[in-house]
Amino acid sequence: MITQASVDTLVTVFGGSGFLGRHVVRALCKEGYRVRVAVRRPDLAGHLQPLGRVGQIHAVQANLRYPKSVEAAARDANIVINLVGILFERGRQRFEAVQALGAESVAQAASAHGARLIHVSAIGADEGSRSLYARSKAAGEKLVRAALPAATILRPSIVFGPEDDFFNRFAALARFSPALPLVGGGHTRFQPVFAGDVAAAIVAAIAEPRTGSRVYELGGPEVRSFKELMQYMLATIERPRLLVRVPFAAAKLMALFLQFLPKPLLTPDQVDLLRQDNVVSDAARREGRTLQALGVDPVSLAAIVPSYLWRFRKTGQFKIA
Ligand SMILES: NC(=O)c1ccc[n+]([C@@H]2O[C@H](COP(=O)([O-])OP(=O)(O)OC[C@H]3O[C@@H](n4cnc5c(N)ncnc54)[C@H](OP(=O)(O)O)[C@@H]3O)[C@@H](O)[C@H]2O)c1
Repeated sequence: MITQASVDTLVTVFGGSGFLGRHVVRALCKEGYRVRVAVRRPDLAGHLQPLGRVGQIHAVQANLRYPKSVEAAARDANIVINLVGILFERGRQRFEAVQALGAESVAQAASAHGARLIHVSAIGADEGSRSLYARSKAAGEKLVRAALPAATILRPSIVFGPEDDFFNRFAALARFSPALPLVGGGHTRFQPVFAGDVAAAIVAAIAEPRTGSRVYELGGPEVRSFKELMQYMLATIERPRLLVRVPFAAAKLMALFLQFLPKPLLTPDQVDLLRQDNVVSDAARREGRTLQALGVDPVSLAAIVPSYLWRFRKTGQFKIA
């Protein structure tokens, strides 16, 4: 609901141009907030403009690897949201620089300007993980806490939605490949959560200051193994394909080569990440640190996924009679 308080509130969203970002920006605009989107290339963030009223969204330049640009983007903000994350390393975009030190810069800037912070991490963030992605997410959480103890930390499981990089990517692969790989047999369990529900959780966390200092784990209503998710995706796009078990060691070997593709399908670090289930913990459920505790009733895969995967069917949105 739009109130005078929300209209008077400036929210800086780091990473607002990404997949989750556009859902968050839309949810913030619906509530009437003034939104400053901090991105490396504001000239490429034009797609956000239709999500708000004229003048409601303003894009500025910021790079988490440059603390001064982060500080400038957080100036005068009442709320800061950090959605910046990377799935693989390229050039100077290293996990440590972006997800740990970059997250710290955002928290320090929010603290310096007296803003509240909502920091998006990931389920699986773990200092003891074999995966550098997971370790850097854990380091980021720790640095954020040290800089701004009252920050709210949200850890989603895998996020789905029209622009996701999971179902879209494997559905695209299934268009020309006769088989899809099941790393480690495809037993890793996920709890996919809709991007719109994560955005709703962020808006709820803003409205409720008591969420500060807590870590929420965000998962959808279903827990599915990787294999089950592939089967569901293939049934949705009506393309039967072979699902081939690939042991972790063999997957890692394949990933050693695949990681050099411009947008790698698999990296050795992602193979390590797949060794752990990616679901909401019992502790989070017991302690009320879930989507439901934030007042969000998560939607199912079936309610959303067919609405964007149809384009991978042989006959698109049409049925052959
Ligand atoms: N998608 C999932 O399934 C999932 C699951 C769990 C957690 N998460 C977390 O949720 C957050 C959002 O994920 P997403 O899927 O929306 O990712 P995304 O689509 O890749 O968006 C990431 C955003 O970060 C920006 N960015 C990257 N490097 C940056 C830098 N050095 N400085 C400033 N901005 C930078 C990107 O913009 P430019 O590259 O254009 O600058 C983009 O706007 C991330 O923290 C991610 O780890 C996502």
